[in-house]
Amino acid sequence: MTSTFSLLPLLGTLTLSTLIATLAQCGNQQSKTASAPADGSSTGASAAAGAPAAQDPAQPPADRIHLLLSGSLSGRLEPCGCASGQLGGLARRIQHIGERRNYDLRIEGGDLVEHATELDPLKLMTIRQVLVDMGQYDALGVGPKDLALPRDQWSAFLAGAPVVASDVVAKAEDWPAQPFVQKEVRGIQVRIASLLLELPEALRGADSGLELLPPAKAWERALAGADLATRRIVLVHGDDVQIRKLLPLLRPKPDLVVGVDASVVEPPHAPTPIDDVPVVFTGTRGRVLLDLWLHREGDTPRAVCETIPLAGSKTVPGGGGDPQVKDLILDHRRFVQSDGVLARMMRQLPTPNGSSYVGSSTCKVCHPTAYEAYAKSKHAGAWQTLVDAEKDPKRYGWPVTAYPDCVSCHVVGFREQTGFVSAEETPDLLGVGCERCHGPGLAHVQSGGKQALGIFGGVSRSQLCTQCHDYEQSPTFLYGERWPQIQHGREANQQRPK
Ligand code: HEC
Ligand code: HEC
Ligand code: HEC
Ligand code: HEC
Repeated sequence: MTSTFSLLPLLGTLTLSTLIATLAQCGNQQSKTASAPADGSSTGASAAAGAPAAQDPAQPPADRIHLLLSGSLSGRLEPCGCASGQLGGLARRIQHIGERRNYDLRIEGGDLVEHATELDPLKLMTIRQVLVDMGQYDALGVGPKDLALPRDQWSAFLAGAPVVASDVVAKAEDWPAQPFVQKEVRGIQVRIASLLLELPEALRGADSGLELLPPAKAWERALAGADLATRRIVLVHGDDVQIRKLLPLLRPKPDLVVGVDASVVEPPHAPTPIDDVPVVFTGTRGRVLLDLWLHREGDTPRAVCETIPLAGSKTVPGGGGDPQVKDLILDHRRFVQSDGVLARMMRQLPTPNGSSYVGSSTCKVCHPTAYEAYAKSKHAGAWQTLVDAEKDPKRYGWPVTAYPDCVSCHVVGFREQTGFVSAEETPDLLGVGCERCHGPGLAHVQSGGKQALGIFGGVSRSQLCTQCHDYEQSPTFLYGERWPQIQHGREANQQRPK
């Protein structure tokens, strides 16, 4: 298939004005859109209407710039390997950049990490090395999750990196972010701004040392001294609705809005024009990169993009991706083990129901049938799976059982008081035990079953499963198909009182 595949339906269904506005037909991975953008659609449209500046299809616009975009990396250095066919990984990304050296600018939207545990600053350090020092990224936006990190570590690890935050003003001298990044691409000036729109709740007080500017003011700050010919790219930490509200406030208009929003898992294949401005979303976890060409027709910005799903790389022989990045990731994993990070992270949070964990074998006494179903299920062996994975150099070969991100879904009571500590200290809390799904059981056991347990966290049954069986770990998960494999219930003598 070539780019005509996506072009035909466009020509058939859109009116001329939407076609001009949409402008963009985004190809799939195999298409050649990236090297010959906007060919059919813009000529077709302008020929029919005598619209401005008909373009020679053979002649790409002279002012176009080539961008590599992504966002919400969320600490995913590489896919976890829980399912086959996973996407993402920094090693694959750097390999891709090396293969397509013609990107003019490389931009990562923000939320480089997902949490604010002791592990996250260590990941940030590795991400910095990869994106900034090796990948030569031109701009890193700042997301709410980045700001949740301990400020001193965040500042230190990103010192000297091209960090952008246009609407956040900080008092601290070591604040690494700038109001904008400016780059020159073949004589064209490009400004990159980033809008957070909202400070995380914990940082709204005066003692956070942070001030949030209103969008119009932040935009003015980001464009200070820029002439109208300067291309204006803005990263926005918000969803579609927030972006629609925001756009009328930004004058002059941006050339491109890049939405960075963790809820948009798959980036749409084409930019959406809002208020005549192309808007794209980056997707999450570094699974898909956007390859985007940006130019102007008169004063109107035009964008053509291609989504590039990155076949996941893994730090195993033959796992693909840039070898130097893989070494950096392995160094990171080994440091996490040798420094004992996991042990320090355990038992820091209260349990959700205030009771304590007792372990699955205690449940067995009164729920022998449920226990039998459990013992046969893969959930019971989920810790052993990690142990085996760690020993198998073809699958992992690095210290998986010492890496908090892996342990989290493969044990009971991760990080919670009375929860998992280690295989030796808490052997009855290994795997996805009863209490991972029903909550800590001490009060229930002591009351002979009278104090009800229900479902952990009070969520629905399917929400319970997708905490772990999500689009990355379990892309084909369907509750109706998987529940029968672990089905269990009350003993005959435990009928619910009518
Ligand atoms: C705490 C995380 C977690 C939760 C919550 C969870 N699972 Fe799992 N599940 C796992 C892990 C980890 C495995 C893989 C275990 C292994 O292979 O060692 C797994 C495996 C399975 C399997 C076996 C899949 C196979 O390939 O054979 C089924 C079926 C399953 N889960 C169903 C469910 C259902 C249904 C729910 C919700 C009621 C659920 N799980 C909730 C973590 C979880
Ligand atoms: C968000 C929860 C979650 C995290 C985090 C997680 N896993 Fe899993 N893991 C799962 C689930 C769910 C399954 C079962 C998938 C299925 O069969 O649908 C699984 C399955 C596996 C399997 C069995 C796969 C197979 O082919 O049999 C391995 C090995 C594994 N995980 C290793 C890891 C490692 C290593 C990490 C850390 C890099 C990790 N997991 C992190 C939830 C998780
Ligand atoms: C992967 C998650 C998961 C694990 C592990 C798990 N359960 Fe369940 N359990 C469920 C779900 C989901 C239900 C269905 C709840 C419903 O019907 O509302 C359930 C139902 C039950 C019920 C009947 C509830 C009722 O109200 O009738 C009992 C009893 C029970 N589980 C006990 C156990 C015991 C004991 C273990 C460990 C041996 C265990 N479960 C392990 C998810 C799990
Ligand atoms: C001393 C016996 C005993 C032990 C030990 C015990 N249960 Fe129960 N459990 C009961 C009885 C009895 C009922 C039925 C209570 C009723 O319906 O009034 C029950 C009901 C349940 C239910 C369904 C109703 C509810 O409370 O949500 C779940 C789920 C459950 N138990 C899970 C567990 C888990 C998990 C463990 C281990 C931590 C466990 N039980 C240990 C006696 C026990």
